[in-house]
Amino acid sequence: MNLKIAVLAGDGIGPEISRQGVAVVSAVCNKFGHSVVFKNAICGADAIDKVGDPFPEETFNICKESDAVLFSAVGNPKYDNDPSAKVRPEQGLLAMRKKLGLFANIRPVQTFKSLLHLSPLRADIVTGADFVCIRELTGGMYFGEKYQDDNKAYDTNLYTRAEIERILKVAFDYAMKRRRHLTVVDKANVLASSRLWRKVAQEMAPNYPEVTTDYMYVDNAAMRMIQEPRFFDVIVTENTFGDILTDEGSCISGSMGLLPSASTGTGTPVFEPIHGSWPQATGKNIANPLAQILSVAMLFEHFNLIDEGNLVRQAVNASLDANVRTPEIQVEGGAKYGTVEVGEWIVNYINNQ
Ligand code: IPM
Ligand code: MN
Repeated sequence: MNLKIAVLAGDGIGPEISRQGVAVVSAVCNKFGHSVVFKNAICGADAIDKVGDPFPEETFNICKESDAVLFSAVGNPKYDNDPSAKVRPEQGLLAMRKKLGLFANIRPVQTFKSLLHLSPLRADIVTGADFVCIRELTGGMYFGEKYQDDNKAYDTNLYTRAEIERILKVAFDYAMKRRRHLTVVDKANVLASSRLWRKVAQEMAPNYPEVTTDYMYVDNAAMRMIQEPRFFDVIVTENTFGDILTDEGSCISGSMGLLPSASTGTGTPVFEPIHGSWPQATGKNIANPLAQILSVAMLFEHFNLIDEGNLVRQAVNASLDANVRTPEIQVEGGAKYGTVEVGEWIVNYINNQ
């Protein structure tokens, strides 16, 4: 296969983990005889500093002309602490999602046996937890009409039937490929938008007779996720609820540095870690590259390159088993490995298979 990949490294630790992700893509393509071409493009605070726009037209064009985007992270505290800032790095991420039509954000939550002790939850609760959160990504309050003055402000949680149907279809199809259990998360006891979600889901469910579909209010889902994470197989929910629940879900694994995600829809798909740009760690060679590397596995799997994806996952697991780990997940007394060393170990492992 010939792959064209746009590389958007972004801010903070982004460029450091991006380099390891790119190295892993290259190693796997080399092993399996695929050709790959990378094109770097700017985004986030980096792009604001350079051209005044967090998702410049040129970056958009590079993304459009590519088969996939390998994205790292955006964000810089100098914008967080300035409420009057007109442009923010995060707007680049939102613009990318909207312009590429990436309405489905797939966020798997998995546990790693060797890291169970790092979870804030008891091992007997998290052992075997394995679910996927499918978050709607281009609608709802993030993109609905907004208004703000000094006395009044609102965000509109608008969803059309078409937007709901297409994300639910992704979710039902995902459930069919997994344990066939779909939980539709909403707030239908209060919100009109949620009632439409639930209505549409109830209309679609009979088309998937093999899927057990249940409906859960978001407050209850937030509780259930930490009480009994094994209950879930596939969760589908709107943009804002999905944002909140997936941060909660990421804790289950023990480190945010482990979880990848894929955003798909009508345009070029984007593969990225769920964590942010961790500005305090920039340049220190301590950021965990595994979420980025696992997003490479998701990239291959998206193109049905299953063996390629598996090899990446196998390499990641081997690195954990060998205690080749970045500081936040290293065992007591374990050797010190940085971002680069973990990435290199994984590339070596792949080369030697
Ligand atoms: C995420 C992030 C983004 C979001 C921010 C950075 C705009 O939190 O990808 O979950 O809220 O969607
Ligand atoms: Mn988030």
